[in-house]
Parts: sequence; C-alpha cells; structure tokens
Amino acid sequence: MNKPSDPLFSVSVSIGEMLAEAARLFDAAGVDAPLLAADLLMMHLLDTGRAGLVLRKGDIATASLKQGYEDLVRRRLDREPIAYIVGETGFWDLDLEVVPGVLVPRPDTETLVEAALEVLCQADGGLRIVDLGTGSGAIALSLAKACPQHVVFATDRSATALDVARGNARKNNVADRVTFVQGVWFDPFVGDSPVFDVVVSNPPYIPTADIDLLEPEVAVFEPRLALDGDADGLRDLSLIISGCRRHLKPGGWVFLEMGWDQREAVRSLLEVDGLFESILFFDDYAGNNRAVRARRKA
Ligand SMILES: C[S@@+](CC[C@H](N)C(=O)[O-])C[C@H]1O[C@@H](n2cnc3c(N)ncnc32)[C@H](O)[C@@H]1O
Repeated sequence: MNKPSDPLFSVSVSIGEMLAEAARLFDAAGVDAPLLAADLLMMHLLDTGRAGLVLRKGDIATASLKQGYEDLVRRRLDREPIAYIVGETGFWDLDLEVVPGVLVPRPDTETLVEAALEVLCQADGGLRIVDLGTGSGAIALSLAKACPQHVVFATDRSATALDVARGNARKNNVADRVTFVQGVWFDPFVGDSPVFDVVVSNPPYIPTADIDLLEPEVAVFEPRLALDGDADGLRDLSLIISGCRRHLKPGGWVFLEMGWDQREAVRSLLEVDGLFESILFFDDYAGNNRAVRARRKA
C-alpha cells in the first residue's frame, strides 16, 4: 500500500499503465466507476477525447504528466467530485462549468427539465419562466435553449452560483435569453400581481441530519446551501409552493424536484389550500419519484 508521500506511479510508465493503476487505486478506495474516473482525469489533463486517449495509451509519460495526473488522482482518492476536479460536467444538452460552492447538476434533474419541456414546447411564445435556485444554470439554460420563444429568469441566493450560471449562459449561447437575479426565492420579484407563467425549481430538500450520511463527494464537497432543506427537508419546497400564490399566474405551472420519499408530503403542500390541480409525479432514471408538476387553477 502507498504511503501518502510515495509516488503513485513508477518511474518509466506508459499512459495506459497509469490508467490501469489509477483505476486499481480508485477501486480499492471504493471510488465509484473507477475505470471511467481514471480515463476522465487523463482526458482532462491531455485535453483530449476518448479517441485521443486510446491513441496515446502506449506513450511513456513525461515527468510533468505523471506529476499532474498524480495530483488529480489524489484529489479523486480524497473523494472530490470529478466535476470539480475537471471544472465541468454535461447536463441535458449543455456543457456546464462548475466550481466548488456550486452544486454539480445531476442526471436526476433532467427528469424535471423533460417534464417542463413537455408543457413549454407546446405553448405559444412569450411565457415568463423562473428557475428558482439556478445553481450552475442547468435548468434555466436547458429551457432557454430548447424554447427560445419564452422569457427565462434565473435566481439564486449565492453570488458564486450566479457568476457561474452567467458564464454558462454565454458558453451555451443563451445569454440574451436569460435574466439573472440574486435573492431569496421570490423575494427579488416585488409586486402584488403574479408575473410568472411557469415556476421551476430544484431546491434544497435533504433533511439536515441526512447530509452527513451521504457519500463524501456530497457531504464534504458540495455546498450545504444547495442541499439542506431543514429538519424534514421540506422548508424550501414549502416556501416556494406558498410563494406561488403571489407569483404564479392563474393557469400557470409549477415544476419541482424533490426527494424520492417526499411524494405524499409534497402532495399535501400542493393540496393544502386548493390552489393547484392536475398534480402529476415523475420518476427519475432510477425509477424513483423525483419531480412533480401542478397547475394553478385558472
Ligand atoms: C439543489 S441546488 C440546485 C441547483 C441547480 N438548479 C441544479 O438543479 O443543479 C439548490 C440551489 O438553490 C440555491 N438556494 C438555496 N437556498 C436558497 C434561497 N433561500 N433562495 C434562493 N436560492 C437558494 C442554492 O444556492 C443552490 O444553487
């Protein structure tokens, strides 16, 4: 077993041998998808894709490549998410920059995007959509890209998240279609009559006590502000649903992500004052309850 100060790779080693050794170390440390992790880190370092990596596997690694790869492998062995190490991730049909302090967008959230697009793609243009807690911009930018006919607002409490989301809007050529606003949920939108046709959000929904039980990639590295939904996980879902009374137009839609076990609690929040109808839940790729849509009665 390597001591922390021992080099991870021997003196004369090919790139392919380094990949195999990194995958072995990841596997031994319980890191998810070890072969993929080894490849992704090397592709990032070599600034190449899969084909380029295959072509380089027989090359003997230079000292600087070995050192650079070792640094990245150690970070992953410490369970830092790959997206933070390489600074980007894919979501829906976007390439998104992510930095520590901003939630790494999850494939599960594509369920929410898909549910929203089913409604939005069929609607006439000019709808006003707000993505509350936009993080990297994953949801807002996916909707803006697919539906140029609508107007998208994206909010977050975190200035870091909004900076990243703005950069991602430019990177994905939708900067002219999204307005970014900093603030707490609906607070930036003052006024007594509702202005939004669609509210979409993936708010923090993990019960506080559960966060430290999650894998270190999440519990240690991801921002608590993006995860912590208070003791029962429902604080922010509840605030957003009640905020719809003032901010969502009659006949408008709300789309929310939630925890796999929050279905009945979220149904109760939506039904409590008879504001909504057509409540429908959606499963994620793993078959878990993940999102809900509801329509404000006209
Ligand atoms: C679960 S993350 C979702 C990020 C992104 N929408 C996604 O799906 O990848 C929740 C986001 O809500 C933001 N947030 C947390 N509390 C907030 C609040 N009170 N008001 C506004 N945004 C908040 C966090 O900063 C974080 O970016």
